[in-house]
Amino acid sequence: MSVFYRKLNHPYPRIVRGEGCWLIDERGKRYLDAVGGAYVANLGHSNPEIAEAIAQQAREFGYLSGTMFTHGPVEELAAEMADTLPGDLSKLYFLCSGSEAVEAALKLARQYWIERGKPSKQRIIALGPGYHGSTLLALSASAREAYKTMFRPWLVDVHRIPASYPYRCECGGKSPTCPVCSGAVLEEAITRLGAENVAAFIAEPVGGSSTGGSTPRPEYFKRVREICDRHDVLFVADEVLVGVGRTGTWWATEPYGVAPDVMTFGKGVSGGYAALSGIAVPDRIVDAIANGSGNFLHAQTFSHHPVACAAGVATMRYLKQHRLVERCARMGRVLHERLRPLADLPHVGDVRGRGLLAGIEFVEDKASRAPFPRSAKFAERFAQAALDAGLTVWPNVGHADGTTGDLVMVAPPFIIEEQEIDEIVSRFAVALETTRAHDGHRA
Ligand SMILES: Cc1ncc(COP(=O)(O)O)c(C=O)c1O
Repeated sequence: MSVFYRKLNHPYPRIVRGEGCWLIDERGKRYLDAVGGAYVANLGHSNPEIAEAIAQQAREFGYLSGTMFTHGPVEELAAEMADTLPGDLSKLYFLCSGSEAVEAALKLARQYWIERGKPSKQRIIALGPGYHGSTLLALSASAREAYKTMFRPWLVDVHRIPASYPYRCECGGKSPTCPVCSGAVLEEAITRLGAENVAAFIAEPVGGSSTGGSTPRPEYFKRVREICDRHDVLFVADEVLVGVGRTGTWWATEPYGVAPDVMTFGKGVSGGYAALSGIAVPDRIVDAIANGSGNFLHAQTFSHHPVACAAGVATMRYLKQHRLVERCARMGRVLHERLRPLADLPHVGDVRGRGLLAGIEFVEDKASRAPFPRSAKFAERFAQAALDAGLTVWPNVGHADGTTGDLVMVAPPFIIEEQEIDEIVSRFAVALETTRAHDGHRA
């Protein structure tokens, strides 16, 4: 075997086919893909319309450089997406991965302030827990100590403030005056750093893996918006995980009634049929560069890739034609109603989320919310038990205090049916039983 796998010394099931929400391995075992791989396969697997759109584009031309030419798929994708964007976001720049989109968004923020004659604005503020990717600037913005320690000498000093995480906040997310849950901590941070030094604040509008689908208070992002406006700080919404419908609206910032200055997206934007991500920005930011240097300093070979954009166009049209974002909101309500009883099971501390995004947090002791020791590897063992039971979930660790904390995420394709949701719940219970059974002294 010549593949350098991510997890070494680990046997991977070999998938040979996908059907809707299901993946089938070479032995015929069926896996209910309850997290769309990594919050990606939003249309389900083997969608013939997307496959045809990709093939058709590849037959016309596969690649051309985005610095030399424009083409149909990139123009159509920008138009399809522009229809859905919040606020004054209007221009789209396409890349491949979420990490690249975050790099581009933060570099754009820096370039914008330089072009505006404010070169001292270079600090970035980000949340902890939080995740924005694995390339060095995106990793710097992420609060994942275990991923960062080895690379510390290469990382940028990003200023961290606590994320709204109601389950682990003293106020339980209920107090409008809590500095963390109200967003007031952002203002303190900007004041401490000096607004003249701060370029951008980056945040996930609904927590992804890092806070397990935690949703800030309804007024949180209004406060953030107002603070950013007052201090001339760009608000970057990282919608890589929660965007393109995942939380039941096109963009997760929508229910807060605010729009960011820069938005990143990725994952589900092509339904996973091609590596596609990007940033959305308003004319006022693009114009600052157009009227200055005239060149966005973030070139990548595969930006505006024709085949990836064709996959994106087909995905956007499929989502619109089949009203799948509305369906995501509707099925999201069903998902949360059916998941709720899991909270009665041993070690399930909290079940939360929005739309077809749910986080289930495990604790050793439900009354005190004390997490398992990290050595128990509860989330990892649960995810493996779920896979054995034919269910994919996404585990996350470390959110309780930077080291401990175990949760898993569920984020099924938008085409999921009610009986498949029931199947998620029953397989989840089986996996929990297995995890506990192998944990004799603890359970
Ligand atoms: C919120 C968020 N931003 C950025 C990224 C990085 O995306 P990618 O893994 O495609 O580089 C992720 C990945 O999980 C993410 O969840």
